[in-house]
Amino acid sequence: MIAQLSDFIFPKVIAHRGAPCLAPENTTPALMAAIDAGALYIETDVQLASTGEACLFHDDNLERTSNGRGNFEVQRWQDIQQLDAGSWFDAGFKDTRIPLLAEWLQVAAQHRVGLNIEIKPSQQTQAVVDATHAVIDQYWSEELPPLIISSKSKQVLHYSAKIAPTVARGWVCTRWYFFGVKTLRQLGCVSLHIKHDFLSASRIKAVRDAGFHVLAYTVNDQARAQQLFDWGVSAIFSDNMRLITKFDGA
Ligand code: G3P
Ligand code: MG
Repeated sequence: MIAQLSDFIFPKVIAHRGAPCLAPENTTPALMAAIDAGALYIETDVQLASTGEACLFHDDNLERTSNGRGNFEVQRWQDIQQLDAGSWFDAGFKDTRIPLLAEWLQVAAQHRVGLNIEIKPSQQTQAVVDATHAVIDQYWSEELPPLIISSKSKQVLHYSAKIAPTVARGWVCTRWYFFGVKTLRQLGCVSLHIKHDFLSASRIKAVRDAGFHVLAYTVNDQARAQQLFDWGVSAIFSDNMRLITKFDGA
């Protein structure tokens, strides 16, 4: 079935990696800061530990956002959970840990905020998608805001559609593809997630007319956000929590 715009309602602003200007990205303090700022939807990045746990971490390597070294996916959970993922951001966040997806889901469920779970491309496509949906099955329920899975990896989205067809999907596009709408249809996505620089009014109209939302990342400037909304973008991913009050405030 081709997804329709009406199938999924996004807020205007999706907090990107939590509130990464206020706390270290993709950690539980960043999730709490986004919730406190009024975020209705929060994006995070999932990767698999070598021991099989779905963890929240953006980069391929540990160095930028933790005191660890090396590639994330080869690390065991017992070692990941020892890492300091806060001091790089501010000494006040020393010993903040890399969270499990399960931890964020429980906090998000408690506060009734939705999550966009971006699954990073991996050699372990089935394992990371299986692990993600196992956690969703355990901690999420139908009366909560619907979750959306997104990925740059078509394999991830294809397998997610196979094992969890009712969980919404978004395709994270790294550039503008002329035939992108065809891919969105094939993957049964509800939305195209794309870098805002690639967007124009006519491109957004083409995707919307085909029945898909356009979500733009990463937009921190209010005037640019307004322009994108005027062009028909459904939501932006932002590090700037002030935009939540501006565009989603009561
Ligand atoms: O999901 C939107 C955005 O987060 C994709 O890029 O690199 O920030 O995960 P990145
Ligand atoms: Mg992301």
